[in-house]
Amino acid sequence: MSDSIASAPPQHFNLAAHLCAQNAPRAAKAAYIDDCRTLTYGDLATRIRQFATVLHESGLRREERVLLLAHDTVDWPVAFLGAIYAGIVPVAVNTLLTTADYAYMLSHSRARAAIVSAALSPVLEEALQHAPVFCDQVEYHPFLAQDPLLELARANDVLVTAYSPLAHGRVADDATLAEIGEAHGKSAGQVALRWLLEQPGVSPIPKASSHERRVENFEVFDFELSDEERSRIAGLPKDDRQIDPDDGPDWDE
Ligand SMILES: NC(=O)c1ccc[n+]([C@@H]2O[C@H](COP(=O)([O-])OP(=O)(O)OC[C@H]3O[C@@H](n4cnc5c(N)ncnc54)[C@H](OP(=O)(O)O)[C@@H]3O)[C@@H](O)[C@H]2O)c1
Repeated sequence: MSDSIASAPPQHFNLAAHLCAQNAPRAAKAAYIDDCRTLTYGDLATRIRQFATVLHESGLRREERVLLLAHDTVDWPVAFLGAIYAGIVPVAVNTLLTTADYAYMLSHSRARAAIVSAALSPVLEEALQHAPVFCDQVEYHPFLAQDPLLELARANDVLVTAYSPLAHGRVADDATLAEIGEAHGKSAGQVALRWLLEQPGVSPIPKASSHERRVENFEVFDFELSDEERSRIAGLPKDDRQIDPDDGPDWDE
């Protein structure tokens, strides 16, 4: 057989696993870039695996379908390939359709869950009527209230992933958070993460480029905030929304 003829794919082939393996040698290179973030091939492989684990832990099984209703950011390939990695079939749909279209697609595809991007969170309520949503990822940190969304998520047993939990790192400059941290031998960033973790159903996903910071951000499970400290954080101004695209919804309606 000639060397120029490509070999047939193996009997068991996972496209996402194949892409991760093929791109392992270029782990530090940019794979996806959006308006705010860059994902390297290394980040992509890690997040694909994490996302696949979350899908499995949420009760989804191989060959089941999930609707993917997400804007065009670096999160999109993570969700799409993460589903494929988990053996789950992502049904990727246009974000500009009507609720009636989504209702039809949910029912026609028999999707067991929907992955909905933060900017489309107002459609969460609609989507909930048609398929279980297990998690909604939104901007959430000590300088931004998400009360209506948290209320809706809790009422429907939906987890909330807090992205930008450190408000792009600005928590480090906050005197209240720093003062609370001092009392526990912790940094302002650790206090912000602890505050989020202490809320039912909320998981923060901090970003940190250095190993030291990543370790710091894990060391938040060995202290607790007092009621008084929680109220001080609750009393900080909560109107600092960082991610607000032109086509974003009226967030709190
Ligand atoms: N779901 C997905 O697939 C996906 C993909 C990409 C991004 N994301 C999320 O999107 C968000 C975007 O990033 P962001 O910049 O808004 O996140 P952020 O976590 O709010 O802030 C990250 C900034 O905070 C700094 N920082 C890290 N740890 C700190 C600490 N303990 N104290 C003080 N500052 C600290 C970092 O600095 P250094 O970097 O210098 O350490 C960086 O400048 C993140 O939550 C990320 O996890 C999600």
